[in-house]
Amino acid sequence: MKKTIVFLFVIIFIAQNLLAQETPSREYQIRYQEVMKQTQWWREARFGMFIHFGAYAVPGRGEWVKSNERLTTEQYQKYVDEFNPVDFDAKKWAKLAKEAGMKYAVLTAKHHDGFCLFNTNLTEYKLSKKFGGRDLVREFLDAFRAEGLKVGLYYSIIDWHHPDYPNVGNHPQRGDSAYTKRKFNWDNYLKYMHGQVEELTKNYGKLDIMWFDYSFPGYYGEKWKAKELVRMIRTNQPNIILDNRLEENSGVVANKRAISELGDFDTPEQGIPETALVDKYNNPIPWETCLTMNDVWGYSEQDKNWKTPELIIHSLVNCVSKNGNMLLNVGPDPRGNFPAECVTILTEVGKWMGKNGESIYGCGASTLIRQDWGRYTQKGDSIYAHWLYPVLGDINAKGIDTESVKNVLMLSSGSELETYKTWFGNKETGNLFVKVSKSPQKPNMLDTVIKIEMK
Ligand code: GLC
Repeated sequence: MKKTIVFLFVIIFIAQNLLAQETPSREYQIRYQEVMKQTQWWREARFGMFIHFGAYAVPGRGEWVKSNERLTTEQYQKYVDEFNPVDFDAKKWAKLAKEAGMKYAVLTAKHHDGFCLFNTNLTEYKLSKKFGGRDLVREFLDAFRAEGLKVGLYYSIIDWHHPDYPNVGNHPQRGDSAYTKRKFNWDNYLKYMHGQVEELTKNYGKLDIMWFDYSFPGYYGEKWKAKELVRMIRTNQPNIILDNRLEENSGVVANKRAISELGDFDTPEQGIPETALVDKYNNPIPWETCLTMNDVWGYSEQDKNWKTPELIIHSLVNCVSKNGNMLLNVGPDPRGNFPAECVTILTEVGKWMGKNGESIYGCGASTLIRQDWGRYTQKGDSIYAHWLYPVLGDINAKGIDTESVKNVLMLSSGSELETYKTWFGNKETGNLFVKVSKSPQKPNMLDTVIKIEMK
């Protein structure tokens, strides 16, 4: 018995090693390099704004209200009728995003409810039918581009309004047997969906990102005719980058997955992976955590569970310290205003980014191991020690080769900081204590960044 167990362990060990040694095919390597090249600007940008805007802002119970409350399209219509974003001012939104230090933005052109914010020719279920014929998506794109931000569109591949989209998954009419008996022409829906994506990628100038949402069991990949869809998008927009939600496991952190044709970056939602994401050959892969400022994506009147600017900055640093991006969401109110709390948070974050953005943009994981006081980010020879948590005494940038240190500065001011190598006679090697402040409180409660320049 014992021998059999040992034997089994040996077999497992050998198998694991064989798998680990598997080398990527040439095609895979080419695809990997292409993904890294296409996403380069985006990986350097690190911080973006997500905007969930639609008729669901009117009930103010989140963008899933139609599904959660199992509303029929007729019941939902009153919100569509009521939705009239008279205060919508794309320039104002763009300015807020820019001031917060964001480098790109992604807007919901169509969410699961199927109501389109863009002037599509394929349905009358669109905002531009009223709203003075204005195309909200076009105004968004123009204004954000004018501020120098990259632009992306979110497009829901599931549709709770289209008559040919069946009541599967979390459809509001799931379990409604009369609805189930209807005839659904799936090919017709695919034609509509592909057609809308064609409109978006052909008629709106250069798009930097297409953000699809989402696949689920039985509805992923070729069910959406994803290969054809992606081919069409890349023909219309050769430099565009795509999220991974046309694929199986969309949104799920599928660490060690293979990079595929259908998506360029992973999309963990409302959480940050433990470690930098890698493909099955241990190459770092692009990823982005999307995050709400309160608990839901669309506007909510009740949800006041706002994250603090401190938590948001810590989360951004956490992402960047693992080679990831952060896409922070705003759900504007039905009139088109950002909630006041969002503006306050964005302004605070922006102030910090203004002084410390250098430790975020173009940075990624450091070669140093993280310490109790916070996290490191790194860009070439510059290591950024982010002091996030209270500690006693000075922070120790342990693991740094002190002989190779050129300069240690407070990033926010550029002022030199004193360093020393031992404390209380402790002679252990590898320490680099940085004198920042005598108090265990950080000088900047959000995140104090120490820049360590190496020779
Ligand atoms: C989820 C939700 C959706 C939200 C998205 C953002 O898939 O269905 O409401 O838009 O996540 O990542």
